[in-house]
Amino acid sequence: MSKYLLAGAIFLLLAGCGGGSDSGSSTPATQAVTAPNRAPVVASANPDQTATVGVAFQYDASRAGAVFTDADGNTLSYRLTIAPATSGLSISATTVSGTPTTAGTYRVTITADDGRGGTASDDFDIVVAPPPNQPVLPATSFQYSDAGIALPRQFTTGAGNPAAADNTPANNPVSNAGATLGRVLFYDKRLSINDAVSCGSCHQQARGFSDAARFSTGFQGGRTARHSMALANARYYFRGRFFWDERAATLEAQVLEPIQDTTEMGMTLPQLVTKISGTGFYGPLFTAAFGDPQVTSDRISRALAQFVRSMVSYRSKYDSAFVNGVPNFAATLTAQEELGRSIYEGRGRCDACHGSVAHISDNINNNGLDAVTVDAGAGNGRFKSPSLRNIALRPPFMHDGRFATLREVIDHYDTGVQNNPNLAPVLRAPDGTPRRLNLTEAEKLALSAFLGTLTDNAMLTDPKFADPFPR
Ligand code: HEC
Ligand code: HEC
Repeated sequence: MSKYLLAGAIFLLLAGCGGGSDSGSSTPATQAVTAPNRAPVVASANPDQTATVGVAFQYDASRAGAVFTDADGNTLSYRLTIAPATSGLSISATTVSGTPTTAGTYRVTITADDGRGGTASDDFDIVVAPPPNQPVLPATSFQYSDAGIALPRQFTTGAGNPAAADNTPANNPVSNAGATLGRVLFYDKRLSINDAVSCGSCHQQARGFSDAARFSTGFQGGRTARHSMALANARYYFRGRFFWDERAATLEAQVLEPIQDTTEMGMTLPQLVTKISGTGFYGPLFTAAFGDPQVTSDRISRALAQFVRSMVSYRSKYDSAFVNGVPNFAATLTAQEELGRSIYEGRGRCDACHGSVAHISDNINNNGLDAVTVDAGAGNGRFKSPSLRNIALRPPFMHDGRFATLREVIDHYDTGVQNNPNLAPVLRAPDGTPRRLNLTEAEKLALSAFLGTLTDNAMLTDPKFADPFPR
């Protein structure tokens, strides 16, 4: 108050020695000297603010008049703008308020006007963070559908091409909206009973959608019975059955299994449907994918399967050797990688079981891990193998994660194959005993280097496969 009075006194004093048209006094106009108006100034700038999508926010950008001062004591009026206007926040007098709908950085400008031509402005940002438990999706969907992806020719033409072995059922093709929903479900920890794990906990993008642990940790800390499987190119397993032992008849059936597994996620399907139905952001995602917001376990299964099938690896160094479907390995691979490829596709016979340009399993096979069957798998110690795409990044190896390094895998196929009645014929020597490759040290290194060309960094860093939930 004393400050106001002082300013008022100065003003009166100025008016007294000459007056001015803005004084409002009746001083005669012949007196030409006008006290210059002093514009308001920013006395205490607004600090940037933070808000969260879905959480009510309110902020007085004038801070009850503390932001600006006016040396002339003029009453200040305020103008506010916020840009871009899409935040869900609105402006009333000097207050920004509302419940933000969209994450991003919003610039607020408050302008103080002294009514006499003097103005001052202060800018600050409201940084709206995405909610920790809601996904952040692109405004325009990523491309997942076959129509939106230009698979290289070698994937779609020629003998034994992967597309010919595609296990996508006619009633569940990959759509952008379906795979987007699948992506959100895949990374949503709500799919476990105590919100502890998501599919992505055990199938990590950077590890080719497998897990570094030999056995993965479930929702209560329990360990899975087998090693997590990589998911790239799963759609090209022509038998269309899933799990190491093929116990799921389809991918649509498989994806509901971990949710109900008592070690992995611990849910029942009715619990799942209730929980997802009660999670607000899913409504529009189900509508986009299936036409209405109804949540069913069948729709959850279809969306998850679409997302998994969209995980196609076709952008590795190996793939870059192909031009219009024709490979020129010599021009693309190093001499060492080329030597490795000649073993993989030659006397190593690796391609007999990890075949086609998608490097997928041909069938269930017994690859001689044990002389006496420990885990029968699909019967007689036979297992499917995930595609060898990204293999260098996803130790440990095999259904029980027994090999910690690729070198151990190569040593197994070189001299370690165990005799047993069910051993695949291709792994036997002509006399019936387990085959011995007797690779030289250089050949082992070369085979390992070739396997490295199957790493698909474009896939492993593609945002369309990444976790959409902010951490
Ligand atoms: C706790 C770890 C864990 C969680 C959570 C988990 N998985 Fe798995 N996943 C595994 C393991 C381990 C296997 C292999 C199990 C087996 O074959 O017996 C596997 C196998 C698979 C396979 C089979 C791949 C093939 O080629 O046969 C698919 C597909 C898959 N998981 C998808 C999912 C989806 C989708 C979710 C979420 C709904 C999920 N997983 C959740 C650990 C996990
Ligand atoms: C008879 C078919 C067959 C042949 C030939 C074969 N494999 Fe395998 N491979 C399998 C099977 C089956 C598995 C999964 C076995 C298991 O985990 O029980 C497997 C698993 C693997 C794995 C581990 C995959 C993972 O996700 O953990 C690698 C790596 C591998 N093989 C590399 C090779 C290489 C290199 C060669 C050639 C030297 C080769 N394989 C030859 C059938 C074969």
